[in-house]
Amino acid sequence: MANTNTKLPTLLLLLLILFFSISSSPAQLLNSNHLLQQQHIQNEPSPSSSYVGVNIGTDVSNLLSPTDLVSFLHFQKITHVRIYDANPDILRALSNTNISVIISIPNNQLLALGSSNSTAALWVYRNVVSYYPQTLITAISVGDEVLTTLPSSSPLLLPAITSLYNALLASNLHQHVQISTPHAASIILDPFPPSQAFFNQTLVPFILPLIQFLSRIGSPLMMNFYPYYVFMEKKGVVPIDNALFKPLTPDKEMVDPNTLLHYENVLDAMVDAAYFSMKNLNVSDVVVLVTETGWPSKGDAKEEPFATKDNADTYNSNLIKHVFDRTGTPLHPEITPSVYIYELFNEDLRSPPVSEANWGLFYGNTTPSYLLHVSGVGSFLANDTTNQTYCIAMDGLDSRTLQAALDWACGPGQANCSEIQPGESCYQPNNVKSHASYAFDSYFQKEGKAPGSCDFKGVAMITTTDPSHGSCVFPGSKKVSNKTKQVVSSTISRSAGDKLMMSRTFSSFKISAVNNIWHFFLAACFPTLLLVLL
Ligand SMILES: *[C@@H]1O[C@H](CO)[C@@H](O)[C@H](O)[C@H]1NC(C)=O
Ligand SMILES: *[C@@H]1O[C@H](CO)[C@@H](O)[C@H](O)[C@H]1NC(C)=O
Ligand SMILES: *[C@@H]1O[C@H](CO)[C@@H](O)[C@H](O)[C@H]1NC(C)=O
Ligand SMILES: *[C@@H]1O[C@H](CO)[C@@H](O)[C@H](O)[C@H]1NC(C)=O
Ligand SMILES: *[C@@H]1O[C@H](CO)[C@@H](O)[C@H](O)[C@H]1NC(C)=O
Ligand SMILES: *[C@@H]1O[C@H](CO)[C@@H](O)[C@H](O)[C@H]1NC(C)=O
Ligand SMILES: *[C@@H]1O[C@H](CO)[C@@H](O)[C@H](O)[C@H]1NC(C)=O
Ligand SMILES: *[C@@H]1O[C@H](CO)[C@@H](O)[C@H](O)[C@H]1NC(C)=O
Repeated sequence: MANTNTKLPTLLLLLLILFFSISSSPAQLLNSNHLLQQQHIQNEPSPSSSYVGVNIGTDVSNLLSPTDLVSFLHFQKITHVRIYDANPDILRALSNTNISVIISIPNNQLLALGSSNSTAALWVYRNVVSYYPQTLITAISVGDEVLTTLPSSSPLLLPAITSLYNALLASNLHQHVQISTPHAASIILDPFPPSQAFFNQTLVPFILPLIQFLSRIGSPLMMNFYPYYVFMEKKGVVPIDNALFKPLTPDKEMVDPNTLLHYENVLDAMVDAAYFSMKNLNVSDVVVLVTETGWPSKGDAKEEPFATKDNADTYNSNLIKHVFDRTGTPLHPEITPSVYIYELFNEDLRSPPVSEANWGLFYGNTTPSYLLHVSGVGSFLANDTTNQTYCIAMDGLDSRTLQAALDWACGPGQANCSEIQPGESCYQPNNVKSHASYAFDSYFQKEGKAPGSCDFKGVAMITTTDPSHGSCVFPGSKKVSNKTKQVVSSTISRSAGDKLMMSRTFSSFKISAVNNIWHFFLAACFPTLLLVLL
């Protein structure tokens, strides 16, 4: 009790300290080389604007109608898609949906667009101006891996992009619609360690003017990055865990000897390799957009043994969590690259190898190809693909640690703790662990299972087992309460419930004493605060 009273002044002091420590975050310190500091990018990439989108290939038998496709995207809470053309039916179906779309220009149209300004202007009029802004076209991807798959068209690439950009400019859409071209990872040589990466010299005559143009117009460098292929090509060198974003033991982490940056996964290393390659050409203000990445769920038994449902689930689930964590890359912790998963549907009409037809998250009929494990990232792709999840207290923790987290959840965290009050359905069993579980779950569900909302400084964990019991129904459970009031014990002394009531009083005093901004701030800083308070 006395403990509680001395906490308030300490808390205020801590808030001040935290405030100052946050204003000089490690991200800024690391960024002292000023790389990307002078960003003049129009759709300025703030960390919170990073997203996960999906590519929609259409070599699918019985492809959904555009209307059904859009319903499905809504259902899965998918808000960013990329298509490989500018299909008018899909663009029409996407109107007034809030779903952003990247449209593409197939390689076989480059000649026409790269050699005539008027053809480019007409293309922009037909495929962008006619739909925008009802259909949120956010970018045009011009050609596909042209420098590596169709070198004869390389000279056409920049002229096509320039003509299209001029047409966007003339329609005053250049601030809303970005334009770039997706590259294969192989244009970057020696990507490991990233600080030694550079663009293939033979391609530099095309790449240099291109990235200078991207820098001028504030568009991203589009890259197709497949840790799957890196792993397959460098088996034995790149550990599979590293490719799959699995937690690594420190000795397995890749350390860049020049920067001493630690790389926990191959994708981050590939992205940083692109930044270093651009820096070698003195371009430092173009962000990387990963237009394709993914992992096949099935392959030829002999040739592609790592194309499995388990690996595909692990890669894509961890990828999604990694982007939603918004921790950036080791070189640029302040910029989390957005990614487009390759791809939404298995393209069953594709020719061998077997993996080619098995990159999809879903079959063409919208049945999931495998179950993702993406709890903790909100509702994105969560419908149908993951079991309902709950957040509970871990086993074997001392009650003091749990109590602090419980106090926070029911106080600043604004979890609904009414059911764990004496006499209510979840009061029994009356101990800190079960009360904490209820409060954690209430907070977790309230936050839409957002990343980090089931942590409580590491004392909470996610479970797919419904923790409801008896008449106690946990938040998020589909069980229906058959609630009957329990008898209130009049002899509660220093029970968990008692402490809970006190902490709630303390919390409400705290909230009225500090203003709302601080309250918000407090919520944001919870893990650190708890660390210091304990
Ligand atoms: C689109 O987003 C805006 C604002 O974010 C919202 O008001 C509107 O209801 C959304 N429309 C649809 C169709 O979801
Ligand atoms: C396209 O227009 C630009 C500037 O408006 C001009 O410099 C260029 O020569 C034109 N290209 C062609 C192929 O006409
Ligand atoms: C660099 O690009 C050229 C032209 O595409 C290609 O022939 C060459 O093999 C590439 N170099 C390497 C090391 O991949
Ligand atoms: C980049 O800048 C360095 C130093 O100013 C210069 O030596 C080099 O030629 C530049 N490279 C390019 C591609 O502009
Ligand atoms: C999943 O779909 C059902 C039925 O459309 C809907 O009621 C529910 O809210 C959805 N859940 C999520 C997490 O989006
Ligand atoms: C979902 O729950 C069922 C039964 O509880 C279990 O068999 C299955 O493995 C779970 N799926 C996932 C993705 O956790
Ligand atoms: C808290 O939960 C109880 C029981 O589930 C519910 O009746 C009450 O409306 C909730 N209160 C708030 C503020 O959501
Ligand atoms: C409520 O349901 C639980 C099981 O879900 C059962 O054990 C309990 O007896 C039920 N109570 C009432 C009053 O029906």
